[in-house]
Amino acid sequence: MPDRRRSSPSAVAGRVAAVFPTPGRVPGEHRLPGPLEQRAYLIGGRVRAWEGPLREVYSPLRLRSGSSLRRVRLGAYPALSAKESRAALAAARRAYDDGRGTWPTLPVGERIRHVEAFTAAMVARRGEVVRLLMWEVGKSLADATKEFDRTVEYIRGTIDALKDLDRVSSRLVIEQGVFAQIRRAPLGVALCMGPFNYPLNETFTTLVPALIMGNTVVFKPPKLGVLLWQPLLESFRDCFPRGVVNTVYGDGATVVGPLMESGGVDVLAFIGTSRVADILKHQHPEPHRLRSVLGLDAKNPAIVLPDADLGNAVGECLLGALSFNGQRCTALKILFVHRAVADEFVSRLAAAVDALPVGMPWDPGVWITPMAEEAKPAYLRELVDDAVSRGAAVRNAAGGTVLETYFHPAVLYPVAGGMRVWDEEQFGPVIPVVPFAEVSEPLDYVRNSPFGQQISLFGSDAAGMARLIDPLVNQVCRVNLNSQCQRGPDAFPFTGRKDSAEGTLSISDALRVFSIRTLVAAKGSEANKELLSAILQERRSAFLSTDFIL
Ligand code: G3H
Repeated sequence: MPDRRRSSPSAVAGRVAAVFPTPGRVPGEHRLPGPLEQRAYLIGGRVRAWEGPLREVYSPLRLRSGSSLRRVRLGAYPALSAKESRAALAAARRAYDDGRGTWPTLPVGERIRHVEAFTAAMVARRGEVVRLLMWEVGKSLADATKEFDRTVEYIRGTIDALKDLDRVSSRLVIEQGVFAQIRRAPLGVALCMGPFNYPLNETFTTLVPALIMGNTVVFKPPKLGVLLWQPLLESFRDCFPRGVVNTVYGDGATVVGPLMESGGVDVLAFIGTSRVADILKHQHPEPHRLRSVLGLDAKNPAIVLPDADLGNAVGECLLGALSFNGQRCTALKILFVHRAVADEFVSRLAAAVDALPVGMPWDPGVWITPMAEEAKPAYLRELVDDAVSRGAAVRNAAGGTVLETYFHPAVLYPVAGGMRVWDEEQFGPVIPVVPFAEVSEPLDYVRNSPFGQQISLFGSDAAGMARLIDPLVNQVCRVNLNSQCQRGPDAFPFTGRKDSAEGTLSISDALRVFSIRTLVAAKGSEANKELLSAILQERRSAFLSTDFIL
């Protein structure tokens, strides 16, 4: 947590003005060796070199040169056309081969060995990936490292969960004289697309369960956070059979539209906006065949009751609203605070924001860094101006200051319906605080909201909290008590209602969403028993097998 001593407004303004360093102030170990001109893409087990047009990548981090700020070019990546995209899908379909391919028919233990080999190769590239996360999306060193390590843990957790699942399925069941072996089988070709805020982690949380369950995959990196996949491309090629993992790069409409329109995608795993998810789903010619796993929009509220421990509530709301600059789907995006404590809450929150270290991702203890999306600061400024024009005030020093890609967090109070920030998902460091007199006011907000991911409740009276918990669990999918909203721990189910999600992801749930239950059954005649015994004892089938993974 940051040092909570309030900084003077001029000290805050000074820190904001000096947020971008000169090149000489970038520590040697965090400098990039030079622009990464990526021409490589992976299709059908071959890393190919793209000769066509490239998309330029610039960092959200600026470097100071005299009185001006310079953009930093990080490199470029292939702007593939629909032709390559179709080739990627064709390679994935060939590798799946209508469920007859090597990968979907491989015994689970062997699929696990491929994923383990990939994990080891990935860990060897940790430093490069973390550095690119900092430069490409502006994530702090601590958070970028956490994202990488959490992803590796997620993969290892997935392997353990699959072993458990397989052990439970490694036996025959007998019901009403019918023998059966019930397992989970793959669905086909999965298209996996993660978001720019967790480009590595949230892509892998669908990619890995999809793969390990025997599906083949086409994946497209998000619009930001593309170059960081380059160090992993050869590992994908070396660790999986040909065509099991394929990549597409470039403009979404150009490379993703044709995939969906072809009808060749069986599972759509997408983390992004509900608007784009709707477009993609509607492009599929036979939508009933498409399984979707979607993580979408959210505007998670907090409700601070008069009996809440205000110190804890401020700390958790700060974390919830400003971790990675508020660029999290799970971020707290609107705070309802009871009138009896609202002034005190806002004053403590503003002081805490004033004390936050701002700067570059590698600065020790940094909280607020430049925004990943170039156009975001201007959008956030519009939200602040709109709220101020309708009666709110910015309550912290330098709140809403824009310096190129840097946007200084703004605590807005009092916020009310009719302001844009009441409805719009800001996905950035704007903290709207709404005073309320009756708890029915925030409850009505939740009921009328198009979103239904999570909520945070702050209070200490057991009866009062319980009265809120019971209706809220039917409106959102996680009620956090005296704690910020968050996805983790990854063993917990992560999902949402209404416009917020489709399907549930957790380490074990993800194995289920990328597979379907299928069984081999036989009436228990003597002849069938002999047949089953022969197949099992002679180990003739990967599916019909009582082998137990140790
Ligand atoms: O952007 C949404 C992420 O899933 C948030 O994950 O709550 O663990 O930071 P997190």
